[in-house]
Amino acid sequence: MSFSALKKRRGDFKSKVDLFDRQDYAELVHCLQYHGHRYYTLDDPEISDHEYDQLYLLLTEIEKENPQWIAPDSPSLKVGGEIKKIFESVEHNPAMLSLDNITDEASLFDFHQRILKVLGGNFIPEYHAELKFDGLAVDLIYENGLLVSGSTRGDGNFGEDVTHNIRTIQNVPLKLMMENPPAKISIRGEVVMPYESFEMLNKELEGQQKKLFANPRNAASGSLRQQDSRLTASRDLYFFPYGVGKIQEKNNPETGYLFPQQQSEVYADYFPALGFKVSPDVKKGSIEAMAAHFTYIMQKRSQLKYDIDGIVVKLNDLSKWTLLGMTSKSPRYAIAYKFPARSGITEISGVVFQTGRTGVVTPVANLKPVNVGGVVIKRATLHNIREMERLNIHIGDTVEVIRAGDVIPKVEKVIHSSENSIAIKIPEKCPECSDKLIHEDIYIRCPNKNCRGRKVGLLKYFVSRDGLDIEGLGAEWVEKLFDLKKISDYADIFYLKETDLTEIEGMGEILRGNMLHSIEQRKTVPLDVFIKSLGISNVGPRTAEILAENFYTLQSFFSVSEESLNAIHEIGPVIASCVFEYFQDAENQKTIWKLLKTGFQALDAEKKENLDLPLKNETFVFTGTMESMTREESQKLVKKYGAKTAGSVSNLTTVVVFGENAGSKLKKADGLGIKKMSEAEFLQLVEKLK
Ligand code: IVH
Repeated sequence: MSFSALKKRRGDFKSKVDLFDRQDYAELVHCLQYHGHRYYTLDDPEISDHEYDQLYLLLTEIEKENPQWIAPDSPSLKVGGEIKKIFESVEHNPAMLSLDNITDEASLFDFHQRILKVLGGNFIPEYHAELKFDGLAVDLIYENGLLVSGSTRGDGNFGEDVTHNIRTIQNVPLKLMMENPPAKISIRGEVVMPYESFEMLNKELEGQQKKLFANPRNAASGSLRQQDSRLTASRDLYFFPYGVGKIQEKNNPETGYLFPQQQSEVYADYFPALGFKVSPDVKKGSIEAMAAHFTYIMQKRSQLKYDIDGIVVKLNDLSKWTLLGMTSKSPRYAIAYKFPARSGITEISGVVFQTGRTGVVTPVANLKPVNVGGVVIKRATLHNIREMERLNIHIGDTVEVIRAGDVIPKVEKVIHSSENSIAIKIPEKCPECSDKLIHEDIYIRCPNKNCRGRKVGLLKYFVSRDGLDIEGLGAEWVEKLFDLKKISDYADIFYLKETDLTEIEGMGEILRGNMLHSIEQRKTVPLDVFIKSLGISNVGPRTAEILAENFYTLQSFFSVSEESLNAIHEIGPVIASCVFEYFQDAENQKTIWKLLKTGFQALDAEKKENLDLPLKNETFVFTGTMESMTREESQKLVKKYGAKTAGSVSNLTTVVVFGENAGSKLKKADGLGIKKMSEAEFLQLVEKLK
């Protein structure tokens, strides 16, 4: 049942919970599952967050009145609640094996040769490459479609029962979507935490003076191995399946359903049909194609939201897997092709201190340039003074530096310190404005709000991808424009004219044009995007979203009280006080008014939908793989211009964009007479819209 149908039937249902019978409840569970799947798995919601929240509220109210109705697959179980003092041991059947690792192309061809040897010379194998997510392997067991167990890999034979926590992972279906699922099936995959959430979590832990996680994998693992499932529920975890363990009633004679014969079909059809999200970065083809794909993924690695440590290449034909047998501990049908190490050894040539947007002064090590996994590193962060002391770092020391995804390189540990190494002096004055620095726990901070370092830091953040994402205005230009006194706060950016930008060294006509155009383009943005761009302490993207949902307009923040902020669920006293203080500040208010005078608009969720954007009447479906961008990027791109996107072709689809290996969706588009677009045509369209 749809949201509006439910609403129509029950009117203002908030006050009439008792009008709902058990059948209504079951329909509501189903409705929320459907919309949850569209949101978390397909990235393609049909209803607004607000509408979803209302439905969810209704569900929890009905469950409160009728606890005996609570379904084993109710979405309310996702928030956790169950506490387990000890994790029971679970035996894996079959065992969860590991893979042999390789790190070079020659070994990939050796792997291919070994397969040829077993399968016979005339056979030209097809392979399937998948991302090797760097998280923690788990096994999910479904009986008659319901999730009954979730366990960690452990030593491969025995793992820990973490069902109560697995249930809280948003994209793990509590009930399989397939109508007649196998009687029993085990799905194996990896639980991961996105970089962004990992960094936010560490910031939070730092604020609470708790121990930080070293990398997203440890954060995912630590979050899943919790006694209290509410804590796991509060962590941003995702599950990506990569294989099927045991399966009963593989082929269903009643429905005529046949289990796929190829790994590529398991990914493309089977997992999605069960209700799982799979990673889109897969490739099938010859061993040469796998080698090329490895290089492609290595280049793409830093743009991915999740940490991966390589790709897994598998023989695509599932029927040959058992035939190939095992090496000592790993099956022969697959190989883990891992990226080169991302750590290197070098020497510290100096340490500088940098004042950032919040006034915190960060120690940064200058290094003798070192090549780490294909990137030359000259600087690495030392985070804060406590970390500097913990590392016991001196200038001249030999250190190990590591790089993790997009994250700034950091000094991991000192390898060797000599007598000639020089101690680092912690500054007493701000390196930018010379104000006396104050010590705040593990940080040193410049208290001067007019400090150049802080102002430039805020401006850089405002235009960055974490902020308003003004594409044509990069960090270096912001700094230059600030020093040339063309801008002093973010509102000034929207006052920039052509004449302000002429006669600036290095700025040509094209650059100027692009800059002004992309500034103009960001004159209307969603409210949450604007809020996160302000760089208010402790306000990241998720908090900005919550604030936008609760206050609707920018102006309403000026009159907000600290109590009303505190009253919002998910907003604690620290954030409440930061937000309150920010909007009380006369300077900050002045800047916002100055900005609004330019015609700048920060739209709330409802207005956002009515915005007059060029693609507002289009619904895009993407199929196949595009060379130039991921599915997520292309969807985000058209959404930016007002289009809707869908996962499958229907009468509502207006354009189908096809990449390499496009399948049935393209045929369906033909049948319905829907406009088709190649990748090149799509790129042309996007170019025109810019
Ligand atoms: S297949 C028989 N596929 O890598 C082994 N594993 O050493 C079946 N992993 O423990 C594993 N992504 O945690 C496979 N696409 C993928 C994977 C993957 C990550 C992890 C998994 C496993 C380890 C293999």
